[in-house]
Amino acid sequence: MSQSDDVILIAVASAAVGVDVEGLDAVAGDGHVADVAEMTLSPRELDRFLALPPADRRRAWARSFARKEATLKSRGLGLGDVALSEVDVLDDRTGATTLVDLKVDDDHVGAVALRNPKALVRWKELAT
Ligand SMILES: CC(C)(COP(=O)(O)OP(=O)(O)OC[C@H]1O[C@@H](n2cnc3c(N)ncnc32)[C@H](O)[C@@H]1OP(=O)(O)O)[C@@H](O)C(=O)NCCC(=O)NCCS
Repeated sequence: MSQSDDVILIAVASAAVGVDVEGLDAVAGDGHVADVAEMTLSPRELDRFLALPPADRRRAWARSFARKEATLKSRGLGLGDVALSEVDVLDDRTGATTLVDLKVDDDHVGAVALRNPKALVRWKELAT
């Protein structure tokens, strides 16, 4: 599960699963988003991030961070267990994992990671 503000995501799966929701205001200041991106994104992710217009970068970074946290949770790991820049989450499917972005609302982004390379993900809103 994951919680940010009044959003709670709960994932249920037959494979190991991780889910995460991030508020777009998780990092204060647009300049700071670029600094945090340098520390947390893989080289490939950072190239893609820097190619974006500044107005799109906050959402893009939050989406990457949600994908990374979901991936770590699906492996039973926490933020202190691994360098985030070594967790590349650009690909939706790798040999071991399926990653899906969840469109939560204007202020939040979410992601779910399953340790199953062919998983199908369905999701629904339970309450507003
Ligand atoms: C996993 C983690 C990144 C999530 O933190 P968060 O974004 O503040 O909180 P979220 O609401 O998104 O997620 C919390 C949920 O993640 C899940 N979770 C936490 N640690 C997990 C782990 N190691 N493996 C799998 N799932 C985990 C749990 O379901 C938890 O809910 P619970 O507290 O009700 O059991 C954080 O708890 C973490 O890193 N913990 C390990 C300790 C650590 O490394 N701290 C360093 C911080 S810099």
